[in-house]
Amino acid sequence: MSRSMLLLPLLLSFAHADLIFEGTVWSAPTRLSSWSERWMMNDTLWDTYLAVRDDDLQLLRENFNHSRYLTVILYFPTYLASELHVGSKGIDRLASVVEHFYNANTQVILFFGRPDFDDSGCDHCDADIVHDPSSRASFMANMRRVLQDPRIFGHLHAVSVYWMGASHYCTNDRCSEDEIANLTTALTQLIHEEAQVPHLVHVDGPFWESCLGDCLALNVGGYTPTSLSAGDGVLAESWTQGTLPNGVRKLLQDSKFSPINITLICDVPNCYMSDKLCSTGSVESDISTWFGWHKELGLRSWAVWNFVDGPVGGANDYGDVKTDGSGLTRKGKIYSSYATPGPLSPPPSTPPPPPSLTPAADPHSWGWTQSTLQIASCHETKTWKDVVPLAISGQVCTGGLGSQLQPGLFEVWLCFHDHPCSRQLQALALSPLTDGDYGMCFVFHEQNKSWVPWEYGAKLHLCESSSSPRVPPSDQTLPGPTPPETAGVLPETSPPPM
Ligand SMILES: *[C@@H]1O[C@H](CO)[C@@H](O)[C@H](O)[C@H]1NC(C)=O
Ligand SMILES: *[C@@H]1O[C@H](CO)[C@@H](O)[C@H](O)[C@H]1NC(C)=O
Ligand SMILES: *[C@@H]1O[C@H](CO)[C@@H](O)[C@H](O)[C@H]1NC(C)=O
Ligand SMILES: *[C@@H]1O[C@H](CO)[C@@H](O)[C@H](O)[C@H]1NC(C)=O
Ligand SMILES: *[C@@H]1O[C@H](CO)[C@@H](O)[C@H](O)[C@H]1NC(C)=O
Repeated sequence: MSRSMLLLPLLLSFAHADLIFEGTVWSAPTRLSSWSERWMMNDTLWDTYLAVRDDDLQLLRENFNHSRYLTVILYFPTYLASELHVGSKGIDRLASVVEHFYNANTQVILFFGRPDFDDSGCDHCDADIVHDPSSRASFMANMRRVLQDPRIFGHLHAVSVYWMGASHYCTNDRCSEDEIANLTTALTQLIHEEAQVPHLVHVDGPFWESCLGDCLALNVGGYTPTSLSAGDGVLAESWTQGTLPNGVRKLLQDSKFSPINITLICDVPNCYMSDKLCSTGSVESDISTWFGWHKELGLRSWAVWNFVDGPVGGANDYGDVKTDGSGLTRKGKIYSSYATPGPLSPPPSTPPPPPSLTPAADPHSWGWTQSTLQIASCHETKTWKDVVPLAISGQVCTGGLGSQLQPGLFEVWLCFHDHPCSRQLQALALSPLTDGDYGMCFVFHEQNKSWVPWEYGAKLHLCESSSSPRVPPSDQTLPGPTPPETAGVLPETSPPPM
């Protein structure tokens, strides 16, 4: 049985990981210029990037004040995974970055770039993945190769694919809604099969610009509310175009998506220091206008695309951090102020509250009701990294403490369907709790980074609220809840050179 088949039943759980982007700051790595030099995949730039990746993470954490909710969007030029390039370092480098961020408790969204390039990477070569079956097959084979890589599989939070809407294959009505729905469906299937994470359909800013006047049709190159609905969510670049609010309303009205499925990337230019124009007069008013709309539209997560938009010392038309990595640009500082978390909100999938949860000075007697004293003797030493595969295979379930959450102390629980400690205790007990139930639940001690024994699974019933095995909502692969109303980020820039 193939791995895909084996894990297929879990797809829905993944697709339903709630509110995965609420309160998340997203960013492309700094000093990874997007458009020049073949997406920075040349050796010199990659070496530079690998050398500064930790500084970048640190900068993000400090400035976006979200040390535990960071999402990094990694742009990968898909042709680098082709047979032609397999001898090159493309996938190896991507894998090393994915693993690095994953191990640093950062959620990784993999963004497959340039579907309009063929396997050679040659611009405007024949790679029309909408109409040409062989181009599509080749592009998807490259994606599959990446997603199946054991260093990448299981370490992703979501996957997105650069849209075709601005490519010359689709402009001027060359792509129909049906064709894009077909493509989107195929990509969604592939991403579900191989990565078991949601497919966020990407559209760029021009998508919103078609929503003029009463906005009868929102259709750019076949990208419409209907064809977008073939994905699990939308990852949309945007700036302060006046048509943005109309467009978002139209999308909400005519697609299957609700505000939680839509993440806008705030992609206004550094108009004070480049030749890009401000839409409303200044970068400050552009951003406040954009956030005003964001709020008015009821959206919850947001993103900024390129943390830096230029090679070291180069132009930085859209970046949020200075190209030398020494701090934030004016625009980055404004974003940072929006990203500052307010009071922590409960994570989205709130389980029944624990019986009684009183913070206690002594962590050994922290006040939770336990059915037997012996439970306190249970130990669990797995890391979150160890736990994720168990969640994927359905051996554990996890969730947030909801209204019982104590920020910074106890936020997340984890239940094993079968735990040795539970087996031992029940073997000793005169009347076993529930025949055949060996579940045991723990709560993560945020300061000690350790699991504190809580209660038998059979007493808590936390794993039973879903028919299929639960997987951790992605914000819980990073321990902790999701703060409200804060940032997300997406990489990227201006209308790309598509
Ligand atoms: C890589 O890209 C940088 C930035 O554009 C350039 O300065 C450098 O010469 C390139 N290196 C190689 C080996 O191509
Ligand atoms: C970070 O968040 C904390 C808690 O909300 C807040 O007290 C602090 O001022 C924030 N720091 C910055 C630099 O925004
Ligand atoms: C897309 O269209 C092709 C050709 O008509 C068809 O074979 C394929 O099944 C369709 N794919 C999806 C996912 O609908
Ligand atoms: C929208 O997001 C919610 C929460 O993550 C998810 O349950 C739902 O399936 C998504 N909707 C679509 C249409 O994918
Ligand atoms: C947490 O750490 C403190 C000191 O580091 C220790 O005294 C305490 O027992 C630990 N608590 C738990 C629940 O592991």
